[in-house]
Amino acid sequence: MINSLIGTDGVILADQLTYYGLKAWAPAFQFEIVGIPSYLDGRLTDDVEAVCPRHRVKAIFKVPNLQNPAVITMSLERRMALVDIARRHCMPVIENDAFGPLVSQLCRRSQACVPS
Ligand SMILES: Cc1ncc(COP(=O)(O)O)c(C=O)c1O
Repeated sequence: MINSLIGTDGVILADQLTYYGLKAWAPAFQFEIVGIPSYLDGRLTDDVEAVCPRHRVKAIFKVPNLQNPAVITMSLERRMALVDIARRHCMPVIENDAFGPLVSQLCRRSQACVPS
């Protein structure tokens, strides 16, 4: 899936502290990871906006619930902001919801946060 989305030499945006599996895939699938700071809410969108013009960003990788290793769960507002920015930049969001089933008050998936 990653190959078909970003081809080779593309960039994936991810949290600076992100899932180790993404880092393991990067050399195998020949993409670069650009890290953006993890915030509990808010500034994520500013950072993404700043990074996009400087890199050939092809996708955003996100663990929305109990992010590993920072254990951050995104607020609904932040999910909506992420989908909005992904749409404006025509970028898919690769959502790894490995821990979603462990969250009792589960937010809907980011893609479900905004009308199509
Ligand atoms: C976000 C995320 N996805 C998937 C996994 C499963 O990883 P693995 O397939 O290496 O066990 C983990 C394990 O910690 C994880 O943190």
